[in-house]
Amino acid sequence: MMMVSLSSQTLLLLTSTLVVLVVVTGQFIIKDPSFSRDDFPSNFVFGAGSSAYQIEGAVAEDGRTPSIWDKFTHDGYMPDHSTADIASDGYHKYKEDVKIMSDIGLEAYRFSISWSRLIPYGRGAINPKGLEYYNSLINELVTHGIEPHVTLYHLDHPQILEDEYGGWVSPRMIEDFTAFADVCFREFGDRVLHWTTVNEPNVMCLGSYDTGQIPPRRCSQPGGIFNCSAGNSSVEPYIAMHNILLAHSSVVTIYREKYQAKQKGLIGINVYAFHYTPLTNSSADAAATQRATDFFTGWVVNPLVFGDYPKIMKKNAGSRIPSFTKRQSEILKGSFDFIGLNHYFEVYIQDNSQNSPKSGPGDFNSDMNIKLSVTKEEMPPGPFIPTSIPYNPSSMQKILEYFRDYYGNPPIYIHENGYGAPYNETLNDTGRIHYINGYLESMLEAIRSGSNTRGYFLWSFLDVFELLSGYDMRYGLVHVDFENKDLKREPKLSAQWYSNFLKKNAKVIKIEDKEFEYK
Ligand SMILES: *[C@@H]1O[C@H](CO)[C@@H](O)[C@H](O)[C@H]1NC(C)=O
Ligand SMILES: *[C@@H]1O[C@H](CO)[C@@H](O)[C@H](O)[C@H]1NC(C)=O
Ligand SMILES: *[C@@H]1O[C@H](CO)[C@@H](O)[C@H](O)[C@H]1NC(C)=O
Ligand SMILES: *[C@@H]1O[C@H](CO)[C@@H](O)[C@H](O)[C@H]1NC(C)=O
Ligand SMILES: *[C@@H]1O[C@H](CO)[C@@H](O)[C@H](O)[C@H]1NC(C)=O
Repeated sequence: MMMVSLSSQTLLLLTSTLVVLVVVTGQFIIKDPSFSRDDFPSNFVFGAGSSAYQIEGAVAEDGRTPSIWDKFTHDGYMPDHSTADIASDGYHKYKEDVKIMSDIGLEAYRFSISWSRLIPYGRGAINPKGLEYYNSLINELVTHGIEPHVTLYHLDHPQILEDEYGGWVSPRMIEDFTAFADVCFREFGDRVLHWTTVNEPNVMCLGSYDTGQIPPRRCSQPGGIFNCSAGNSSVEPYIAMHNILLAHSSVVTIYREKYQAKQKGLIGINVYAFHYTPLTNSSADAAATQRATDFFTGWVVNPLVFGDYPKIMKKNAGSRIPSFTKRQSEILKGSFDFIGLNHYFEVYIQDNSQNSPKSGPGDFNSDMNIKLSVTKEEMPPGPFIPTSIPYNPSSMQKILEYFRDYYGNPPIYIHENGYGAPYNETLNDTGRIHYINGYLESMLEAIRSGSNTRGYFLWSFLDVFELLSGYDMRYGLVHVDFENKDLKREPKLSAQWYSNFLKKNAKVIKIEDKEFEYK
């Protein structure tokens, strides 16, 4: 189990694809859902997700070159020393997997395209085998009536671009990413109608360039929690985000100019979003909570909705956060058709401005100046080993209502939400059912109160390589036997539960025992 330091406010430790949390195991009473599929709009989509590096394996096959994640895992930086060289072997088993999705009744599947597989040298020649793989996967999905929702960038770019110019800390990524996206639209856009440019840029910029916990593992003091060989935690998280946002708007511009009228798809971005609650009733904690929201969420979303970073970020980061030109700001504003949210849970926020910053430039965390905790109890100082998170599904409704009220109710897809369990969980994953049931119900409440939410993707479809915890944690609806070469897939009880929920006309379904009766 990995040690997590909350004292350094490393939010990324708590995240999703990156999650290391062990959720409470034990006995759950699964209540009958008080809602059904029919309570959601008929054009709402329910699915599940994955990402290229986490599911595909076949990292050195058919012309793929290493991505920054291959380098990181091969350098031995995963806590369990694992790699995703094989992962869930999605590259070879995609037909079997799509069949399982179809049996469950998934209406949509969220996955990402490996840049290293499609354009192995970062720019230039397309790899015909990579093209063939994604065409085959997309065709298989479409044939089974499953909508492909594609992420262009899920934290992985070719290592060669990192070596050449430093990846996202260089504005040169904007042009190369745009060219990669252009190929994807041209080759797959006749069948893919939902495109997401970048997954969780906020978590990525902090993990990659501030704490240095994930590739390309750049950091410095203050901020870095590892000894990185290069980087600058004071400025690089802000620079990388700036380049990502400009790359996003550049990609949206070419999609709108060259493809959207003909292909009739939609394009958006993804953001990792906690829901933030003040720890106490003090006005200082209320202000800290707004600050946390602005820093974590507004960093990505404000430029897209309002054309600029939140005022408080510009004030506190000063010259370390880059500025948009008037023209860039105009292009950014409105550069999305939807926003994808990765939402797992609520965090409690306390003001930290009593602790005056040390001399010299700070970093994102000292600029934000809050203390964050996952429970209402104050966190003890020092490393924190999370063993449980509170089950508090009302945060789903609250975060959706925040987007409704603060951002003018944009179309939202829940791109990730899910339940992590230790590697030895059984197929009888009642905890996961309990979790999904609660969060779906909360999402429905938000929709009933006017939230423009259009879809929900459970993280994850299969058990995959988790970006922070390797194979120590499982999020899948479908169990993968990583210990055996055939990587056998077996649907968990949660897959049955989800399946029954998705079959609209099913009113009463019995699974295993009375507790799962569905009325
Ligand atoms: C599954 O777990 C629940 C408690 O979480 C238990 O009541 C039930 O008997 C278990 N079912 C099987 C088949 O093990
Ligand atoms: C970083 O390097 C210092 C000095 O070499 C060492 O004391 C410390 O334990 C290292 N920290 C980590 C997280 O590796
Ligand atoms: C990071 O960059 C800032 C601004 O250029 C500079 O003041 C600071 O000294 C740099 N920090 C390190 C560790 O190089
Ligand atoms: C905060 O305010 C709520 C509602 O006004 C009240 O119920 C609660 O006791 C207060 N909590 C504290 C710690 O003062
Ligand atoms: C999983 O492993 C943990 C720690 O070794 C143990 O406490 C738990 O009982 C195991 N769970 C199952 C379902 O085997």
